[in-house]
Amino acid sequence: MDARLQRRVQRYGWDKASTAYEQYWTAQLAPAHARLLELAALAPGEHVLDIACGTGLVTFRAARQVGPSGRILATDLSQEMINRATEEARRRGLDHVTFARMDAEDLQCAPASFDVALCALGLMYVPDPLKALSEMHRMLRPGGRAVAAVWGARSRCGWAEIFPIVDRRVASDVCPMFFQLGTGDMLRTVMQTSGFTDVHLDRIATTLQYESAADACGAAFDGGPVALAYSRFDTAVREQVHAEYLASIAPCRRGDSYDVPGEFVIARGTKPSMT
Ligand SMILES: C[S@@+](CC[C@H](N)C(=O)[O-])C[C@H]1O[C@@H](n2cnc3c(N)ncnc32)[C@H](O)[C@@H]1O
Repeated sequence: MDARLQRRVQRYGWDKASTAYEQYWTAQLAPAHARLLELAALAPGEHVLDIACGTGLVTFRAARQVGPSGRILATDLSQEMINRATEEARRRGLDHVTFARMDAEDLQCAPASFDVALCALGLMYVPDPLKALSEMHRMLRPGGRAVAAVWGARSRCGWAEIFPIVDRRVASDVCPMFFQLGTGDMLRTVMQTSGFTDVHLDRIATTLQYESAADACGAAFDGGPVALAYSRFDTAVREQVHAEYLASIAPCRRGDSYDVPGEFVIARGTKPSMT
């Protein structure tokens, strides 16, 4: 897929998903967020860059950990995500957190000015994740650390059929490389290629729990990466894609609810200190 088209699909898709995102994903992503923050080991006063921050689920926790003497810049491609997060920061009275719309591949901030760079569940959507990690590296001071979380291998993510189901009905793939980063040692390799050393990789098996078929479909279609394509489907096509998706997760059905397996891969690396 053409990188410019992918960015547009992502930007406007996440604009649409921004209202439903927290309802469907806060609990499901909690294990990845917790491990990412554990690996980041933020300290009071640190300066943190949060890439692809969405509504700020990680950002606000990081803000608490660095405290008012720290500073957080959180960025995302979607203006709606940034607007919601900015409003929430204002509501919480947080002066040390700033949200700004930026492409992960083109960060507009002062190089070497952050202690830590975070990216939770964002790199799979970026056309060139190596470029995004290189940008995170560029923004870190020597000795700074980066932590990134991605979804794991396709075979371990029970909801993976969502992409071919939508792709069959649109002109181009929504996320052509989605599962690549979480397969094998790929995340470690791209982190090392972008300049990080001492790369540590964790894999976490998880279960996405949905109380109903409506919740499973809401998370898949309203609150996630296919939201743009889905918003353009008419009622008949929506019914078809719901039926196909529910058939694909039928083995995970427990009465009315669903326990869908998933996997997160989380990596931490260090920008070498100058000698
Ligand atoms: C699954 S959400 C993750 C949000 C947040 N980090 C979290 O863990 O809750 C993915 C986010 O990546 C953002 N995104 C997609 N492509 C991007 C890009 N090229 N640059 C920056 N952000 C991007 C989307 O707008 C969306 O908010």
